[in-house]
Amino acid sequence: MSRLVVVSNRLADPRKPAAGGLVVALGEVLNQTGGLWMGWSGNVLEGGAPGEGELHLRQAGAVTLATIDLCREDHHSYYHGYSNSVLWPVFHYRLDLADFNAHYIAGYRRVNQMFARKLLPLLRADDIIWIHDYHLIPLAAELRALGCRQRIGFFLHVPVPPPLIMAAIPQHEWLMRSLFAYDLVGLQSEADVVHFKHYVHTEGRAEKLGDQHVRAFGATVLVQAFPIGIDVDEFSRLTRASDAVETCARLRAEYSRRRLLLGIDRLDYSKGLPQRVRAFRELLERYPENCASATLVMIAAPTRDNVHAYTDLRQELEGLCGAVNGDYGELDWMPLRYIHRMVARKRVPGLCRAAAVGLVTPLRDGMNLVAKEYVVAQDPQDPGVLVLSRFAGAAEQLDEALLVNPYDTQAMADSMQRALQMPLVERQERHSKLMERIRTHDVHWWRRSFLSALQAAND
Ligand code: F6P
Repeated sequence: MSRLVVVSNRLADPRKPAAGGLVVALGEVLNQTGGLWMGWSGNVLEGGAPGEGELHLRQAGAVTLATIDLCREDHHSYYHGYSNSVLWPVFHYRLDLADFNAHYIAGYRRVNQMFARKLLPLLRADDIIWIHDYHLIPLAAELRALGCRQRIGFFLHVPVPPPLIMAAIPQHEWLMRSLFAYDLVGLQSEADVVHFKHYVHTEGRAEKLGDQHVRAFGATVLVQAFPIGIDVDEFSRLTRASDAVETCARLRAEYSRRRLLLGIDRLDYSKGLPQRVRAFRELLERYPENCASATLVMIAAPTRDNVHAYTDLRQELEGLCGAVNGDYGELDWMPLRYIHRMVARKRVPGLCRAAAVGLVTPLRDGMNLVAKEYVVAQDPQDPGVLVLSRFAGAAEQLDEALLVNPYDTQAMADSMQRALQMPLVERQERHSKLMERIRTHDVHWWRRSFLSALQAAND
């Protein structure tokens, strides 16, 4: 059987809890298959020449971890710069927040070339290579330039924007052309596939658009949606474990006569956090029976705080949260609990189970696995209600959630109220349908379907 080689910018760091669904999902995939996992070590070295990071190899069970340090300059231009100040905002439709600094692209190319150089000698002839996310789009092209012949698949965890938004990136054609060095490109949703094909058709002068094969830039690539899932059995086990049970019991005791609404996100502008706070404020205003009885718990984990857009967002959000508490709070009730720290993963299911309403309301999101985790953590006899943005990739699969437009403050407040008031039978029916979909499309289904499509590609 072929060995699986996974490459992602971020990989599991035993010293730190995982932020973001990618690391958790890939950890679960590699636990099943074993193999090699290459990525950035998380270290930023003060000295060191750009493009010359040191490679460290270590064994973690059946997985070989190959990590590369970044020097300060590479971290600045590749990670904070091109990846998170150009690709991240544009792929999330936020041209207003993009910083098209012409120096970033050199760092992005240099780090991708370095990953290719470091990976090549570790490869075996029959390896299957699976590269992840927007940090590493040109990696297959760099590997091919060095003579790599193995099958290479790519999965993009973030959305594909419509062509006229993509075209704002000065190097958009080069980026999209790079994707044709892969044998298979996996996207989160059908909407992403439509945008990809539309781009290739209008900007890439596609020679032929088949059902799944796309021919352009003199090459053919297979493009399909593979919506990522969670490890349902593992998350259910975490839900039954003592840390989660205690967390849930403690919250229920503390908020005994109150209903909790919960959001767990990275503090990212794609997550619609200010919009959520405004909608919660509207809920208190329009439905005052919730005053003193509803509490919004917002966990917004720190992320990329060297990028300006994130520091600005933090200020805005903290101002809004403070104003809600100042305007509506009582001596014995604060409407909003805002926590700017990461919560330990083992506590997440307990938090979800204690909350009557799970709020996953991004302005744009590739998938959003918290939506799936919230559903799995519920008690099927008395489940909470998921309020989900129609702009999250998860909405294509989870249409029994209450789907909302996060830009519409009043409608979102109405949905929060509807969720708080929903009768038990309706909650049970919606929950069991959501569970079925999440279980049949779990992370193992995702891995199996992607890897079998990759095996079959170009046969
Ligand atoms: O899921 C999208 C993603 O950008 C992943 O690639 C990433 O690991 C995660 O969000 C968290 O972001 P970061 O790695 O920048 O902390």
